[in-house]
Amino acid sequence: MLYFDAVVLVMHKPMAPGTRVLYLGAASGTIVSHFSDIVGPTGVVYAVEFSHRSGRDLVNMAKKRTNVIPIIEDARHPARYGMLVGTVDVIFSDVAQPDQARILALNASYFLKNGGHFVISIKANCIGSTVPAEAVFASEVKKLQAEQFKPAELVTLEPFERDHACVVGGYRMPKKID
Ligand SMILES: C[S@@+](CC[C@H](N)C(=O)[O-])C[C@H]1O[C@@H](n2cnc3c(N)ncnc32)[C@H](O)[C@@H]1O
Repeated sequence: MLYFDAVVLVMHKPMAPGTRVLYLGAASGTIVSHFSDIVGPTGVVYAVEFSHRSGRDLVNMAKKRTNVIPIIEDARHPARYGMLVGTVDVIFSDVAQPDQARILALNASYFLKNGGHFVISIKANCIGSTVPAEAVFASEVKKLQAEQFKPAELVTLEPFERDHACVVGGYRMPKKID
């Protein structure tokens, strides 16, 4: 199984036809095209990528898929694309940056509905190369908890990818009444 198959499997949990997705770190749009298939004509995938080189392929792919909105911007500045993106049900984040939890939190505060879901892909060596992967995953989960995310599941991508995990969970989840 390839990396993107593993990610699509994880992502299937919070996605269905009609889901509105914000995808951070879209690259040339390979996984975005799978998500576009899953959410179908009634859903939408807003795909943010800051590399103009990858962005060219992303824009070309979106020409054939009317439910993909390509956005060539820096995900650290959601205000710059706020006029293009509506409220979303799910954010998928794969920017592979040391401050990726902050980037996800910032975008969630702009676009993710209360009770929405997130998936973050964590490559341990993009965050801190001197500590074991499990320690990096635990520290990222803590950062998410501090930003009103409720991580529900951590899935490692072993044996397909080393030191790589996806965390899935909810955002500003409603309090349970006893
Ligand atoms: C690990 S790759 C994503 C691969 C992609 N998910 C796929 O498998 O098709 C990370 C991508 O995030 C992009 N990226 C990194 N930092 C970003 C930022 N601040 N804003 C937007 N895109 C960013 C990189 O240019 C790169 O294309």
